[in-house]
Amino acid sequence: MRDVGNNIKITVNNLTVCYNDEGQEGAPVIIFIHGFPFNKSMWDKQIKVLKDNYRVIAYDVRGHGSSDVGTGIYSIELFVNDLINFMEALKIDKAILCGLSMGGYIALRAIENYPDHFDALILCDTNCIADTSEVKEKRMKTIENIKKDGVEAFAEDSLKNLFAPESFTSKEAEIASTREMIVNTSKKTLYKTLRAFYERKETCGSLPNIKVPVLIMVGNEDKITPPAAAQLMHEKIEDSMLCILEQAAHLSNMENPTEFNNQLEKFVSTVYYSG
Ligand code: MLT
Repeated sequence: MRDVGNNIKITVNNLTVCYNDEGQEGAPVIIFIHGFPFNKSMWDKQIKVLKDNYRVIAYDVRGHGSSDVGTGIYSIELFVNDLINFMEALKIDKAILCGLSMGGYIALRAIENYPDHFDALILCDTNCIADTSEVKEKRMKTIENIKKDGVEAFAEDSLKNLFAPESFTSKEAEIASTREMIVNTSKKTLYKTLRAFYERKETCGSLPNIKVPVLIMVGNEDKITPPAAAQLMHEKIEDSMLCILEQAAHLSNMENPTEFNNQLEKFVSTVYYSG
């Protein structure tokens, strides 16, 4: 029997993973993967609109939200392993993957290594390039700063880059919930995940091999994974769709949920219900 609801726990890959699973049994499955250092709650507004027609699943990536931190070194490949084991445990043969930023890194590596597991991809505010040496240096500096100044200071600093300037007056609830997601992430997870990003290999070279429908979305004010990064992926993935969202920076699904959800609903309905 399938468990339906929120904050369900399951052990996969020697790890307790926490997830939400809503919508009809037998409906097409969409799996949402959050960014760093957030959790599955960042997808609440998407789940709300899609759950009537789809089975929608959002899980906390290892160390984030209410999933266990686990042991050993983090890598995007380990996160992919968790995802594949999670799908197997839930008996899901195929799904649409929707990932934002870190979630996109996981989705891109997952389709590269397990192309038969996915019907389509939605890549949000993400990129296929590896960290440049400048970004790598920043990752290590961030670890030092968290050790020195703490997670609250890290959260304040991050928020400035995550949201568009105008959102600080119009999206106070979203900013508060994002701050909470960041400060509730353990230091151990922050360090391990930043090191995983540092070591992350590019996925641009395998983009021409993607043969499923792909929607790429990005906030027009995203400074972390800017529209140029989305454009690059769009050029490399045949027949992909690119959508640049107004009034949004890096967390485009939270900053402009209306437009984000419109594009998302339109896209998934063409994947599963066209023809
Ligand atoms: C994210 O939102 O997942 C992060 O910005 C990813 C990154 O720092 O590369």
